[in-house]
Amino acid sequence: MTKAELLKFFHDIGIVPVVKIDDAEKAVPLAKAMIKGGIPVAEITFRTAAAEEAIKNVTRECPEMVVGAGTVINPEIAKKAVAAGAQFIVSAGLNPETVRWCTENNIPCVPGVCTPSEIELGLSLGLDTLKFFPAEASGGVKMLKDLGGPFPQVKFMTTGGINPANVVDYAKTPNVLTIGGSWMVKADLIENEQWDEITRLCQEAVLAVQGLEFVHVGINTADSAEAEKTASTFALFGMTVNNGNSSIFMDKSMEIMKSPFYGTKGHLAFRCPDLERTAAYLAKKGFTIRQESVKYDAKGRMKVCYFNEEVGGFAIHLVKG
Ligand code: 3PG
Repeated sequence: MTKAELLKFFHDIGIVPVVKIDDAEKAVPLAKAMIKGGIPVAEITFRTAAAEEAIKNVTRECPEMVVGAGTVINPEIAKKAVAAGAQFIVSAGLNPETVRWCTENNIPCVPGVCTPSEIELGLSLGLDTLKFFPAEASGGVKMLKDLGGPFPQVKFMTTGGINPANVVDYAKTPNVLTIGGSWMVKADLIENEQWDEITRLCQEAVLAVQGLEFVHVGINTADSAEAEKTASTFALFGMTVNNGNSSIFMDKSMEIMKSPFYGTKGHLAFRCPDLERTAAYLAKKGFTIRQESVKYDAKGRMKVCYFNEEVGGFAIHLVKG
């Protein structure tokens, strides 16, 4: 994978688990459990003596797993990790020597930063994707938003203190490329071989990072007359009528279309912060984007789309927000 492909992969998955493993024999069943849970990527940290062997085992046995090395504090460890099969290098801090070795050897490298000066050092070394660590202790989402002001070109892999309760806040933060963390692969879960639980936590994390929220149902009608009649009937139930050009909104939760629109019966709209990520997630479940429905924002990111496949007679609609 090129660096650009790897970063897109990180973005689309939305989660890069941080693994600390004591027994290299457990690395392959762990990788299999993660793949089953929808997360075919891991940062195996050099915090244990088993890291190198674990990377080797996963690289050999699970070719679909994208495995990288974490806690790489110097070029010597980077060399060892890459020789073992690591496809990317992550560190908690920024060691210019490690970054230079990775750049010279074409190895994607995401060093850790948590201050503006460290970000400038990263930029001066040619990096615009950095790890924000320790995220929660360094100011979390608020700090990331503030860093977005002077450094709009920088995207962050955020880790440190992120868990199911706050992961969606990070997913909604525009300069967050992807989210790292250990909560779905905790050392005791690995130690006790709780592979099903790891799969379940991975699935839960993949869903959480989408930040999906149901917003409205769209109802198709034949024409404006039928739409208005339908609207006045729903008004009997206390819903507010907002008449638009192509549809009538009832409160914010129902949209009565003034013509037959997408979906046999209508559509179901879900809000999410990152349509590219959620479209990639849904693609794995068999959903394909209805290309003519896509609208983009000024930055060229999707802000609205529909899918070709129906659920219960309804088209699925994503709205950025
Ligand atoms: C890291 O190195 O990125 C962190 O140890 C992961 O943070 P967490 O353990 O708080 O998830």
